[in-house]
Amino acid sequence: MSTIQKIKGTRDFFDLDAEKFRYIEQVCSNEIKKFGFKEMITPIFENTAVFNRLGEQSDIVTKEMYSFFDRSNRSITLRPEGTAPVVRAFIENKIYANSIDVNKYFYFGPIFRYERPQAGRYRQFHQFGVEAFGNSTAILDVDIILSAWTIIEKLNLQNIVLKINTIGDLSSRDKYQKALVEYFNKYTDKLCNDCKVRLEKNPMRILDCKVDVNQDFMKNAPKIKDYLSQESIDYFNEVLRGLDTFGIKYEIDENLVRGLDYYTDTVFEFIIKSDDELNNLAICAGGKYGNLVKDLNGPDIPGVGYAFGVERLIELMDRQNVWPSLKINPEIFIMALDEQSKIEAQRLALYLRKLGLKVEFDYKNISMKPQFRLSEKLNVEYILIIGENERKENLITVKDVANKTQVTIPISDLLNYLPYELINAKEGFCYDENAQ
Ligand code: HAM
Repeated sequence: MSTIQKIKGTRDFFDLDAEKFRYIEQVCSNEIKKFGFKEMITPIFENTAVFNRLGEQSDIVTKEMYSFFDRSNRSITLRPEGTAPVVRAFIENKIYANSIDVNKYFYFGPIFRYERPQAGRYRQFHQFGVEAFGNSTAILDVDIILSAWTIIEKLNLQNIVLKINTIGDLSSRDKYQKALVEYFNKYTDKLCNDCKVRLEKNPMRILDCKVDVNQDFMKNAPKIKDYLSQESIDYFNEVLRGLDTFGIKYEIDENLVRGLDYYTDTVFEFIIKSDDELNNLAICAGGKYGNLVKDLNGPDIPGVGYAFGVERLIELMDRQNVWPSLKINPEIFIMALDEQSKIEAQRLALYLRKLGLKVEFDYKNISMKPQFRLSEKLNVEYILIIGENERKENLITVKDVANKTQVTIPISDLLNYLPYELINAKEGFCYDENAQ
């Protein structure tokens, strides 16, 4: 019988990969808390209506959502992104009423999209995202971008380019969309099939079509900058000035429109530059959304945010080889040479574990050979040996694996023989010799 396999486009994380995953979570949340963000944890499924405002014509809503009817015939959707659920929670819990000017939240968790799996593209992936709700100022947009950049730096990532654009306010966008329709109508026979539909439903998405991108007529398509209101132009210039102030390099990309419909004004993506298949993929993307809270029946409060793709971060950090040393193995192995010592080994292991050390011992064997073999597989730094002699005289043998040295010492001296950095709470050590 064949074994049952994981669902296409999903990943198992174990051993070092699981450690890498948690490392990213830790760095992201530590850094973002310094920017004043608090955590929000929302359910991974929502009423489908929560996601309707992502764009009735966006790929995510039309082709990629995992939606189903539950046993009471409610339409439920596994979240295809994190912004709408946070907005839903912001409104439902009346967080806006707490008289804080800007409410800032971060989240970390699984996201589901029925996409074609390929490098950096999964059907279940994870996002670290942030959303800030409150006064609409360019300085807030800049702070959001600065926080993403800080995380990129902290993770040691190289060759990341910030692409930025403005798609204006709603009235600028209306005018622009009309101009695009007029222009692309002249080229309908040359547009790909998807773009023919986009022309009717969401003409701005034609601009970032991967199929039509190199067609000649794309170059002369109307540019958003010619349709922006003065207010949107001033706002965008202020964002750019802010980035200049902090020396954040960016490229203005007039074709950057983003795949979700809720954005207004500032949109941005942090793109990978490489010579492999990750080239041009975004590790982080976001922007401002002036009307989403209102559109989901909340108050008229704008939001701005972004999300990192965790799997992409892991793949990129692997390729760029920028991980810090992440230890998953136990530091200490305790070897017991008779049945009585086995209990002693477990007792000592528990003491050392409570001090913060990672300790392992063999549950079954008492002969040396298999225990040494296990300690080698576990790649431990120290082996502690307890046999009948040691037990009777309250001694322990300490073997330093790297230096190939071995000493037998009173067990009460043990911590003096282990390197300081291994021990988090050295003073807490009060090993009870008489408890045997
Ligand atoms: P998004 O651009 O759809 O934006 O996704 C954000 C990031 O998630 C992408 O830049 C990418 O790193 C990662 N990502 C997207 N799809 C996949 C996939 N299939 N496999 C692996 N990683 C993927 C949003 O989701 C917005 N909610 C971001 C936002 C927050 N805007 C404002 N606030």
